[in-house]
Amino acid sequence: MRRIAFINEKGGSCKTTLAVNVSAWLAGHGQRCLLVDMDPQGQAGKALGLYVRELHPTIADLLLQPRIPLPEVIRPTHIAGLDVLPANKTLADFPMQAAALPRREHLLAERLAAVTGYDFILFDSPPSMGLVNTNIMLAAEEIVVPVNLTFLALDGCAEIVESVDWVRQEYSHHRLQIVLVVPTLYRPTRLADEILHKLRTHFPGRVSKAVIGFNVKLDEAQSHGQSIFEYASWSRGAHMLEMLSREILQLRRD
Ligand SMILES: Nc1ncnc2c1ncn2[C@@H]1O[C@H](COP(=O)(O)OP(=O)(O)OP(=O)(O)O)[C@@H](O)[C@H]1O
Ligand SMILES: [Mg+2]
Repeated sequence: MRRIAFINEKGGSCKTTLAVNVSAWLAGHGQRCLLVDMDPQGQAGKALGLYVRELHPTIADLLLQPRIPLPEVIRPTHIAGLDVLPANKTLADFPMQAAALPRREHLLAERLAAVTGYDFILFDSPPSMGLVNTNIMLAAEEIVVPVNLTFLALDGCAEIVESVDWVRQEYSHHRLQIVLVVPTLYRPTRLADEILHKLRTHFPGRVSKAVIGFNVKLDEAQSHGQSIFEYASWSRGAHMLEMLSREILQLRRD
């Protein structure tokens, strides 16, 4: 079972968009997927048409109440082969509520240890570093970093590399790796091309071939609670997300 987290502490770098649509594509290609929403904004569930506001139990309950059975928290989506562990704003209290627990960084990994029957577990992350992201890194093995091609993006990348190195060392989680850096919201400007070039220099062989350009259909699809492959399968957005999903499916671990 592959465990892939989409992480970037910078907000609006397309983590949710990629996590949701890559999950949908994989599910459509025979891969059973569990999408774990670890963001109190609950947008992974929302983007798949779930009404998460009043939902109970959610991932926050699973993390804090070990007796809750997993099947009560996992929800099917309208896409065959794609289930979600949904979040809502109750997850915002998790760091405070877990602060005194001795194994607080390992809660997610321990709860997911009982998960079977999936080919992929994919994690959507919040735009911040802290206990939630440490839990995600300890539950995942592969990290995909979506990078919005703006001037400050490289700065954010350096922070993520540091965090990943820290988790690898501190917790001896040596299988954790940044496997792919995905340029997002690309527009053909000189600055964007320069940043893309720098990314390829910093992460040789790890920048995705798929460069995700700006495409409003990706945004629209979410507002309809659909994947891009349902909402506008002919669009450039669908084509780009399909390329990326194929790359992720074909990634080989060393
Ligand atoms: N390629 C794209 N073209 C146009 N709009 C996009 C594209 N990708 C994502 N968006 C839109 O940009 C916004 C931010 O994307 P998204 O929510 O995926 O980022 P995020 O990294 O998950 O944000 P946050 O850090 O707040 O969780 C959303 O409204 C999304 O629909
Ligand atoms: Mg998000």
